Amino acid sequence: MESLSDEMTQLSFPLLLINFKAYRETLGRPALKIASMAERAARENEVCIAVAPQAVDLRLIAEAVEIPVFAQHVDPVGYGRYTGHISPEAAVDAGCVGTLISHSERRLTLELIEKTIERASEAGLTTVVCADTVERCRAIAAYAPSAIAVEPPELIGTGIPVSKAKPEVVSGAVKAVKEVKAEVRVLCGAGITRGVDVEAAVTLGAEGVLVASGVVKAPDPYRAMVELASAMRT
Ligand code: G3P
Repeated sequence: MESLSDEMTQLSFPLLLINFKAYRETLGRPALKIASMAERAARENEVCIAVAPQAVDLRLIAEAVEIPVFAQHVDPVGYGRYTGHISPEAAVDAGCVGTLISHSERRLTLELIEKTIERASEAGLTTVVCADTVERCRAIAAYAPSAIAVEPPELIGTGIPVSKAKPEVVSGAVKAVKEVKAEVRVLCGAGITRGVDVEAAVTLGAEGVLVASGVVKAPDPYRAMVELASAMRT
């Protein structure tokens, strides 16, 4: 089988980041299947597709696919007496290249976000921090994460795309973040299920999208990924 180019094995933008959340469809072996589909879709469409599996599956998936793997969460701890925590070093050891931070389903205070970005960066992880509003994006940009994903929580899982329902939130986040730190990438997510939603996001200045149910819950996840990935380069 043809091997993947660096652009797809390493993180690059535009980025399609698929969050597996804690769905039944993305636990264990089924997760591996979806990650393999993502690898195939990345190769065939020459787009970087990263996956964020459940914590217990990170090593299984990172060892099986060449595309970038993200943790859904890490804690701002190191080695030692931190029972129940996920250290950034543990995520790296499992094969992750990055981590989501403060997803709206795992929301952190600004103070913890800052600490987590610092610890994750020290461990070598790419940091994608989620934020619900333009103002929160602006505040988080000052901590210099690798990327910020703007996601209005009320649209998550609805199939109503942020890029259509709240375009001002996407363009506002891009403007606010770039004013604070031009090098911080901006993604958007919530309700994205179709190629046209991705096209709208890219037109608004997003450098990628964060999706979950549009792929995981799709009748044909591979087809859904291909539609989103191919729209990424428009
Ligand atoms: O992390 C992705 C996310 O919260 C959006 O979820 O299901 O609306 O694509 P969904």
